[in-house]
Amino acid sequence: MQEKLEGIKQEALAALENIDNKSALEAWQVKYLGRSSALMDVFKSFGTLSKEEKPVVGKAANLVKVALEAASGEKENLMNQQHINQALAGEKIDVTLPGRRKVSGGLHPTTQTLREIYRVFGDMGFQIYRSREIETDHYNFQMLNFPPFHPARDMQDTFFVKSEQDRGDDPLMLRTHTSPGQIHAMQEHTGLYPDNPPPIRIILPGMCYRYEQITARSEIQFNQVEGLAIGKEITFGDLKGTLSNFARRMFGQDAKTRFRASHFPFTEPSAEMDVGCFLCNGEGCSVCKGAGWLEILGCGMVHPTVLINGGFDPEVYSGFAFGMGPERITMMRHHIEDIRYFWSNDLRFLEQF
Ligand code: PHE
Repeated sequence: MQEKLEGIKQEALAALENIDNKSALEAWQVKYLGRSSALMDVFKSFGTLSKEEKPVVGKAANLVKVALEAASGEKENLMNQQHINQALAGEKIDVTLPGRRKVSGGLHPTTQTLREIYRVFGDMGFQIYRSREIETDHYNFQMLNFPPFHPARDMQDTFFVKSEQDRGDDPLMLRTHTSPGQIHAMQEHTGLYPDNPPPIRIILPGMCYRYEQITARSEIQFNQVEGLAIGKEITFGDLKGTLSNFARRMFGQDAKTRFRASHFPFTEPSAEMDVGCFLCNGEGCSVCKGAGWLEILGCGMVHPTVLINGGFDPEVYSGFAFGMGPERITMMRHHIEDIRYFWSNDLRFLEQF
């Protein structure tokens, strides 16, 4: 019996030598370790053996079984390894191929300017107030003291929005400026604090829309940053101080400012602030068109009617407001000559910032 087992083992190991693929290995396993293999016949014949023979033959048969299983496992590992080696040799990696460049995004130039404006006013204690882009005639014009037939209400200036119900003389529209946010902010504030409301210091950034011819200098959509300060005893001196400080923080410590009288229905008195041209230092150049000054923003003391519309008593409260165009400011700072670049999404333009 011992000899028979040894014979099985030798035959099986010899056969295993020549095997070089998975299916042949499987066939080998069936033939030498399977249920009807010669080895299994030995196990099956246990019943006919004597008491003394049983443990001896049992042990020997088991050793053969373990040896064959180990050899087959080894063969399998070897074949796997060969397969990997073949693949590595065949599919060479070309390490000289240039890597794929990671595309990293950047902030839009307007966003960069906006964030700088937020930072400067944030340092002066102004909070950001977000107001809606779809407005009513009521908030966009009426509450801001625009007289009934003001040209800004004209079809030529305003994008109207269709509404389900007929709103009569209070149609929906895309806001033409951020100033209606002043009314929303004041009403919300005086609603929260009906008696003796604490002061307001906010800036209101966001998109505005005007139905205009698109040219190098005007777009139909653009950002504005509105500012509003309301309190007791706020004067035009506060307006000038705040905005001059803003100009120095934004355009450099030497930035000169000047205020020119102007008109807006919702401020009285009204002004426009210019900054001394930082390109030519006031000498006159192509950016300031020879004037030496650049117009930066509109501003003024909040009109008493607007204060009342916001819920404030103009006998007790006063305030100032201003509005500026961040795209305009970006154009001046970077010498950009066409406002249409801001929306054309041309990477050659955007990647420069
Ligand atoms: N809303 C004005 C405009 O769009 C700007 C402005 C804001 C002027 C606040 C004065 C005060 O032109």
